Amino acid sequence: MAPLHPSAGGTYARTVVLTTGKTYDPHGRPPQAGARSGAPSMTTGMRRGRRRRWSATGHCRGTGALLRMSAAIGQTALMAEQLLPGGSVNRVVRHGDTVQRNPGDRADFVHELLRHFEQRGWRGAPRLLGVDGQGFEVLTFLDGYVAWESATDLVSSVESLAEVARLVRQFHDLTAGTPLAGDQEVVCHNDLSPKNTVYRDGREGMRPLAFLDWDIAAPGARIHDVAHMCWQYLDLGPAVNDLAATSHRMRLMCDAYGLADRSGVVEMILWWQDRCWRGIDAGADAGDAAMASLRASGAVRTVRAAYDWVLAHRAEIEATLAWP
Ligand SMILES: Nc1ncnc2c1ncn2[C@@H]1O[C@H](COP(=O)(O)OP(=O)(O)O)[C@@H](O)[C@H]1O
Ligand SMILES: [Mg+2]
Repeated sequence: MAPLHPSAGGTYARTVVLTTGKTYDPHGRPPQAGARSGAPSMTTGMRRGRRRRWSATGHCRGTGALLRMSAAIGQTALMAEQLLPGGSVNRVVRHGDTVQRNPGDRADFVHELLRHFEQRGWRGAPRLLGVDGQGFEVLTFLDGYVAWESATDLVSSVESLAEVARLVRQFHDLTAGTPLAGDQEVVCHNDLSPKNTVYRDGREGMRPLAFLDWDIAAPGARIHDVAHMCWQYLDLGPAVNDLAATSHRMRLMCDAYGLADRSGVVEMILWWQDRCWRGIDAGADAGDAAMASLRASGAVRTVRAAYDWVLAHRAEIEATLAWP
């Protein structure tokens, strides 16, 4: 969603900036995932999370509690708090090895999910350290690169894309058949994107390590996350300058995930995109300031253009995906 973020390129989370002009992230929610209240995610158009309790000066009132919690969990170094860039809804504060953020509306579910990952030894998500006295959730800070403005060349190698898909497959498989997935195939993240991904720079370049921002995770079908992943990590839309190469990358991501039937992927991408721009539009019409601001920044136009682009190239993309 590069156009939603005015500047270019990502940033190393370890060199965070102290100011952040956060925008909402209006995306949608997979058809069977149920309604939520709160602010829409840019990639899902879905309502999410309570607003963080910030004073007019931008100082987070939960800081003292976080410091106490950090001390309680053995964080000894008292570092200055840092606002982390790249969020769409929440203002996330780093303090040493932890981050503090306000929980979403379904925090109990998300916390159970994070504990499930921890119990299963999966390292593709932050660990939940607890909830502080102010009600903020405290998570481990995952050091690395977050492509929070757009999927830069740094994270667009085929190896990196394939690894993203494998990570998605891992947590899907870890949740399949569990009570967390309910009567659905798996638990979906529902907001997979480079800005919610921590990458580690290794000898062979950037590789994804973990996904952040599980606020709107919910039971769903595997294809929901696969479609969202393809849209976001390949930045499907008018910015694509090589349709054939991008279609092959999409195929590669589906292959790396191990998705046998790709016939519904493009349809699902269109569903996400349609939901996204409509979510922003409806929110802005209803007087939601964040949605109004997003619309004013051109987000509706951008996502509609992405939708139109996918629709226009649907046949070519589907032919590549179906290629034996
Ligand atoms: N546990 C974490 N470790 C490292 N960086 C994080 C962590 N949580 C959040 N961040 C940073 O903060 C940004 C915003 O966090 P996120 O949870 O995605 O908020 P939002 O719900 O507003 O999108 C992320 O893009 C990332 O740069
Ligand atoms: Mg986010």
